[in-house]
Amino acid sequence: MVALPDIQKTENIADTSKSHGNRTILVVDDDAATRDFIADALQQSGFLVRKAANGLEALQIIRTDYCDLIISDIKMPGMSGIELINKVKEINPAIHIIMITGFPNIDLSISAIKAGAVEFMPKPFDIDELIYKVNIYAREGKLLSEDLKKESIATLKLKQQLHELSTRIYIYDQVEKSKDSNDQIFEEMVDLALKLVTGENCAILLYDVENNRFNAKTLRSTSLELYRHVILPSLSNIFREVIRTKEPLLLNSDEQNQITNSLICVPLMIRNNAFGVLTISKKKSGVEFTEKELSYVVTLSKRASLNLENKILYESAYTNIMDTFNSLTTSIQARDNYTQEHSIRVTELAVKTARVLNFPPQEIESLKVSGMLHDIGKIAVQDRILLKSGTLTEEELAIMKEHPVIGESILKPVLLFDHEIHAIRHHHERWDGLGYPYGLSGYDIPLNARILTVVDAFDAMTNNRPYRKAMQEKQAIDELRKHCDKQFDKLIVEAFLKTL
Ligand SMILES: [Fe+2]
Repeated sequence: MVALPDIQKTENIADTSKSHGNRTILVVDDDAATRDFIADALQQSGFLVRKAANGLEALQIIRTDYCDLIISDIKMPGMSGIELINKVKEINPAIHIIMITGFPNIDLSISAIKAGAVEFMPKPFDIDELIYKVNIYAREGKLLSEDLKKESIATLKLKQQLHELSTRIYIYDQVEKSKDSNDQIFEEMVDLALKLVTGENCAILLYDVENNRFNAKTLRSTSLELYRHVILPSLSNIFREVIRTKEPLLLNSDEQNQITNSLICVPLMIRNNAFGVLTISKKKSGVEFTEKELSYVVTLSKRASLNLENKILYESAYTNIMDTFNSLTTSIQARDNYTQEHSIRVTELAVKTARVLNFPPQEIESLKVSGMLHDIGKIAVQDRILLKSGTLTEEELAIMKEHPVIGESILKPVLLFDHEIHAIRHHHERWDGLGYPYGLSGYDIPLNARILTVVDAFDAMTNNRPYRKAMQEKQAIDELRKHCDKQFDKLIVEAFLKTL
């Protein structure tokens, strides 16, 4: 049930204590809870707030009063958010509109941005982020509105810049929220690219270095067979050049063969290696692509490449390398049962601790690697020392203490493990600087290394060793607590103890 338009129902709320120059924000949403939630947050940030339950109410307010910015739901009974944008733009073209929706999809967001929304936020959104964006756009909206009265060229420029900004932010958001498989990301990329620049044919081609050829990953074309078998092969030298130079390319008809009249080709990069290209050709309108359109596609490819980086690394090269290293740790197990099982337990404990500390997923993945491989340097320690049941001599201990550095040198050729190497190299450092191999102290010790130190010590204490019996868990906990701020980072110990 939607409330009838009633201007008396809309409310003005102001908090002059931290006012934003009395900027007025209109919140339009048929869902009262969402409307109030946003309005309260805005009010607390010092904005004047007006509320409307539907498009008609919103239009009444805009016709009679000045608003700096509108936040509107898209799906509302009666007038949709997109219709509202169009009507609002007729009344006041300068006003900025942020759209929110519980049903996000690419088409909807493209429609919203094309209609003139400056932002498109899927629900549930971060209220702080919304307030941040309101702060920026309410300010820009005011500037724009004053300039519009002068009808100057500068206004148009400003409008263009604002539009560019919103397009880029939109690309970022789209790519950011994509958590799908690589194949789906490629599909989404070509769809998005085609919409951004209104191309006709679009493809993502992966480069096969060994055979110096391209494999089509994702294709879109109005004449697919022609595109796949004639157009793309004819352009392969151009694509190779993009791979070689790692530079985006914009070619127009007089500069190339006649098969396409305008072409964009950008490299897809992972860790400074071009692994493929995204190419779009032939403007639907027959008009050539512009530098700005090229820059949109570059933004898209850079953002998507970053997103792909983790996935591709972790799924292909990463898997192979992990298999190799796992077999290395297994070979340690052939000599020393303890190291392999210890590594598995240390990894589990480290990951649990990292979760307590709210680590992002990529850091958790990194800890899995460094946890499994933290003692890989022990592969170089002779049996007589590694398996010795008595106390180690000073000389033997010195050899044993080389394992973090040996681990580092084993992993160093694998560029993918750059981050993990830091944790492995320093997992025997102490908070007070009395550890090894470098005697780092406090926050100079990499965070992941500090986690490994704590869980490594706990696991060593609570398991039987050739030279001593396992401690009770409680006793080990006491030891960790006792050595906080000496051997261990207290915050890590506290986080770890929460996992037990
Ligand atoms: Fe170790």
